[in-house]
Amino acid sequence: MDYIIEASKLSGEIAVYGAKNCALALLGASVLTQNEIVLTNCPHIDDVNNMLAILKAMGKKVVVHESAVSISGHLTTTSIPRGLAKLLRGSSLLLGSTLARYGKVSLPMTGGCSIGKRPIDIHLEGLKKLGVSVQFEGDSINCYGIPKGGEFVLRLKSVGATENLICACVLAKGQSILLNCATEPEVVALEHMLIAMGAKIQGVGTSVLQITGVENLGGVQFCVIPDRIVCATYLSCALASGGDVTVTSCEPMHMDAFIKAIEDSCHLDIYSNAIRLRSKANICGIKNIQTGPYPLFATDMQSLLLSLASLSYGDVTILKETMFENRLTRQCSQLQKMGADIVCENNIAIIVGGKLHGTNVMAYDLRGGAGLVVAAMAATGKTQISGIENVNRGYCQLAKNLQLLGAKITCK
Ligand code: EPU
Repeated sequence: MDYIIEASKLSGEIAVYGAKNCALALLGASVLTQNEIVLTNCPHIDDVNNMLAILKAMGKKVVVHESAVSISGHLTTTSIPRGLAKLLRGSSLLLGSTLARYGKVSLPMTGGCSIGKRPIDIHLEGLKKLGVSVQFEGDSINCYGIPKGGEFVLRLKSVGATENLICACVLAKGQSILLNCATEPEVVALEHMLIAMGAKIQGVGTSVLQITGVENLGGVQFCVIPDRIVCATYLSCALASGGDVTVTSCEPMHMDAFIKAIEDSCHLDIYSNAIRLRSKANICGIKNIQTGPYPLFATDMQSLLLSLASLSYGDVTILKETMFENRLTRQCSQLQKMGADIVCENNIAIIVGGKLHGTNVMAYDLRGGAGLVVAAMAATGKTQISGIENVNRGYCQLAKNLQLLGAKITCK
């Protein structure tokens, strides 16, 4: 699918829906109990639908309501289906929970955006430290053994490894200490849901977690947190278009690093669960940023800022990507096609802001695609973005929602 976009000023109000990366972690954790898990505010996006299809194929009863999903019952297999696993990276989030509940799991090669090598060595090292045996067979990883309590220091603050290891520990015999854990809001939401199910976790929201295993976990109804990347996408589109947009149903506290990066370039009114962005005459004053683990600037917002920096007239902005080795270079190449003045080397981009023009570009990955939509909001002429299938993995009806704000987008 392609988007064809012409610049136009956005205005009005738009609500954010539940976060993809929160929903995926919570769905992964649903395997920890046979009792019913109801997730409200669960987004209807391809990655979530594929994760639900995996749970169903593994034996779970899955019922999808308008904006809630219910998951219950036992697994009938601990092999994650190959055809579905390769559709998303989130399929790896079943490792810890399946092991904790069933003592074995087979994970074929996972998919997701090709933004870098994305190894899972930290997940596997952590599981080994908890007594699990890990074997490689072809392109599958087979793990055996119910995790026992233990201590593990994560080499990097990996979101997925933290989530998997928390799930591995909550039913383990004894106590576990996980050090250098990720503290992204999506990880913290998982900790909260597990506690509501009966898990014993101390240090919630910090990088040191002390987990005391319990025998069983109960069911729960839990609300998926607002998607901070979608919130940043709507705000970036508003800013690029020179518009006035209020994003509602969001969590401004999760947006600190993004707000700091753009606050000099526009007027921002921050409310308890809404942010209003009013553009100035021109975009200028986008700050230099370096991506990093939360609370630093999120790598998933990097492509949005790259587009805004390209439009930040007369400014020189430096942007450094520290997480995924393919993300920045490829995105720069697409913006250069639109006339952006960028030099990119060793995952550092130096951007001289100016004007962009429409042309044919490619959404190579989910967030990169969103970045191109932002750029297209300001480009002269028509921008045709191919590869929108990648965007649909993480955005719910992006074109329709932006059209409601006055965007000129057609889908082809
Ligand atoms: N890493 C390792 N070994 C590991 C795990 C991670 O070297 O075992 C490295 C990665 O290569 C990367 C860094 O550690 O350089 C951070 O990776 P992390 O594990 O935190 O990423 P992830 O769990 O695979 C999640 C999100 C990503 C988001 C990152 C960083 C999900 C399903 N995905 O991925 O979201 O970019 O955290 O915040 O939660 C997206 O939504 O578009 C997306 C890519």
